[in-house]
Amino acid sequence: MIQTIPTKPFDGQQPGTSGLRKKVKIFQQPHYAENFIQSIFNALDGFAGQTLVVGGDGRFFNREVIQTAIGMAAANGFGRVLVGQGGLLSTPAASNIIRRNKAYGGIILSASHNPGGPDGDFGIKYNAGNGGPAPEKITDVIFARTTTISSYKIASGQSVDLGKTGVSSIGGMTVEVVDPIVDYAALMQQLFDFDAIRDLFKSGFRMRFDAMCAITGPYGKGILEGMLGAPAGTVMNGTPLPDFGGHHPDPNPVHAKELYDLMMSESAPDFGAASDGDGDRNLIIGRNQFVTPSDSLAMLAANAHLAPGYARGLAGIARSMPTSAAADRVAEKLGIKCYETPTGWKYFGNLLDAGLVTICGEESAGTGSDHVREKDGLWAVLLWLNILARRRQSVESIVREHWRDYGRNHYSRHDYEEVDAEAAGNLMKSLRGQMETLPDKHGIKMVDDFAYDDPVDGSRSEAQGIRLLFEDGSRIVYRLSGTGTAGATLRVYIEKFQPDSNLHGVETQAALADLIDLSRNIAEIQRRTGRDLPTVIT
Ligand code: G1P
Ligand code: ZN
Repeated sequence: MIQTIPTKPFDGQQPGTSGLRKKVKIFQQPHYAENFIQSIFNALDGFAGQTLVVGGDGRFFNREVIQTAIGMAAANGFGRVLVGQGGLLSTPAASNIIRRNKAYGGIILSASHNPGGPDGDFGIKYNAGNGGPAPEKITDVIFARTTTISSYKIASGQSVDLGKTGVSSIGGMTVEVVDPIVDYAALMQQLFDFDAIRDLFKSGFRMRFDAMCAITGPYGKGILEGMLGAPAGTVMNGTPLPDFGGHHPDPNPVHAKELYDLMMSESAPDFGAASDGDGDRNLIIGRNQFVTPSDSLAMLAANAHLAPGYARGLAGIARSMPTSAAADRVAEKLGIKCYETPTGWKYFGNLLDAGLVTICGEESAGTGSDHVREKDGLWAVLLWLNILARRRQSVESIVREHWRDYGRNHYSRHDYEEVDAEAAGNLMKSLRGQMETLPDKHGIKMVDDFAYDDPVDGSRSEAQGIRLLFEDGSRIVYRLSGTGTAGATLRVYIEKFQPDSNLHGVETQAALADLIDLSRNIAEIQRRTGRDLPTVIT
């Protein structure tokens, strides 16, 4: 039965963010998820009879909202929903399914790398027909609809059996429960040299993939252990759990500590990797060699031609502004362009759609290519494996050779989490106020508030972060996170280029020490936020 249920405008998505991300408790309020899903549909048109993809990362509350989204898609006139078995789809797999099936769009349920469980976070975002996060011109309309919504429509009284694949119908709409892995695995097989990787494992090469009790467990087991012949046990924390087993599923050395410690120990395997809650981020560690995401982007770009899917070479590279300039050096050598975009994967969409770039990445452990329109954790792991299979060198020696050939960009991000939102706002304001006076002090050449003009659609995005650019190519960047769910998170990005290979081995925080001090002094972080030290250093 189709019901129209009266409701009221609500405090939903903030303008400029690509989805709605809040505490589970907030999502559990009556009508909350429904309000947002209806606001999405109200912002779109021309979808009658079309296909919608629905899936999530399996976190607490996923199953409930999957059923709600299906019932609402039926009531709003979609012709077909494709939903992952168990309500599960990794974010990159959802992007692939949207593209392959020429769907109108997709609804992805996830709060990415944020913790899950009843006290954790939940999220809903809309992806457009190209498979990528909705661009600002759509998210702005969704936001506007949240302020005027008066009712929502839902086909109630029925639920889909998500337990097995197959076709059924709800309120006149077809529902297809699909295998979450098969299409994605087929795409990976097209891009990468699976034979070479199989031989690598056969030769005794060993890896550990930490799925952090999140969505990539089944993908990792199916592809690494199943198709590529890695020994059973290669995938750790491989069963997705609604609360991620208490893990904070953010693949960085802090939250993937067990893996990190293993890789730095005597008994380290050759290669370690991890992915996040919804499978779009990655962590890459060799034996005794952590690879920063910014370096990983540069190294993947420099070696991508070793994989069949990229043998033709790259059209261009894109990186988010705070990501280190290591990739720029690779682009220069390859004679291709490197685009610098605001933070957030949605800014890569137009460049990828227009064929201007092939590979893109962010310092926040997101790397991907034109194969989908999301960053893709397992893709990065498989490209690394393909490179290792072809070069037959350790991660450490690949990294050292890269630094020798291109120089090293020492890089670190300091996060001050859950600081008072007003204090954080004032700190940024004060930095904006110093933009004229800072140049010429401390070796600073130029200060600006990063703005981006999209070369494809001409749209302009302003106030994307304060950049302090130094004479020697060093940078300090300040911006406030757009994805936190409590207070504000101040991110400070610090980078120093070191051409001299004798100094490449210096520990990163030590190499950056002067800049780190300066970053704290200029922004008066201690005085304004009460924090002496960052909460997380990556
Ligand atoms: C963070 C990352 C950004 C990434 C986003 C979504 O956003 O910094 O690179 O695109 O998560 O995964 P932030 O919290 O900094 O706004
Ligand atoms: Zn994610």
